[in-house]
Amino acid sequence: MSGTFVTFEGVDGAGKTTQLRKLAARLRKRGLDVVETREPGGAPGAEEIRRLLVEGAPGRWSAETETLLFTAARRDHMERTVAPALARGAVVLCDRFADSTRAYQAAGRGASRALVDALHELVIGREPDLALILDVDPEAALARGTAREAAKGGGETRFEAFGLDFQRRLRDAFRAIAAAEPQRCALIDASGAETAVAARIDAALARLPALAP
Ligand code: TYD
Repeated sequence: MSGTFVTFEGVDGAGKTTQLRKLAARLRKRGLDVVETREPGGAPGAEEIRRLLVEGAPGRWSAETETLLFTAARRDHMERTVAPALARGAVVLCDRFADSTRAYQAAGRGASRALVDALHELVIGREPDLALILDVDPEAALARGTAREAAKGGGETRFEAFGLDFQRRLRDAFRAIAAAEPQRCALIDASGAETAVAARIDAALARLPALAP
């Protein structure tokens, strides 16, 4: 048995987390076994690594060290959470995955794309069946993300602190990934009302046999 692996990607504050939760509810209503998870994190060890990555000063890790830490967290998450769920036939909805490393660590921070791709190939070796790339103006998204983080009282602002130009590079990188791999990526216009974005996501999911309405 093999489940369905769907990831949500995009700049900080693009609305991935809200859309993921709503999609999970829609799919559960249809009787599907759905696992909601996130990166970095999604398993106890990976959540410990998460703290090292999302808190603290922007310059605390080099782009290369950061790539290794994200990959270590991803390996743990795959072993403990994603692979077992897919093996039992579940739908796994994951908030960020390898396309975030391609965008943030390679395009954003300047790690070589060859390093990112080689590590992925060697250590992870699996792509999502569909990556939903939520595309939105980074200026509006950054304001939303920072406001939400402040409301939570949280210190998970390390990547937001790289600033607007960084977020613009990320958006371009995500769009380039979607254009280069149209068979496994869907670029979703994430502007406008939540219900409109949800409808665009449903339309994109129709291409996955297991999730087609
Ligand atoms: P996330 O919790 O999704 O933050 P947000 O809700 O603000 O989008 O992810 C935390 C941060 O980690 C986010 O700023 C993006 C970054 N990140 C990377 O830089 N590389 C990666 O491979 C992943 C998975 C996340």
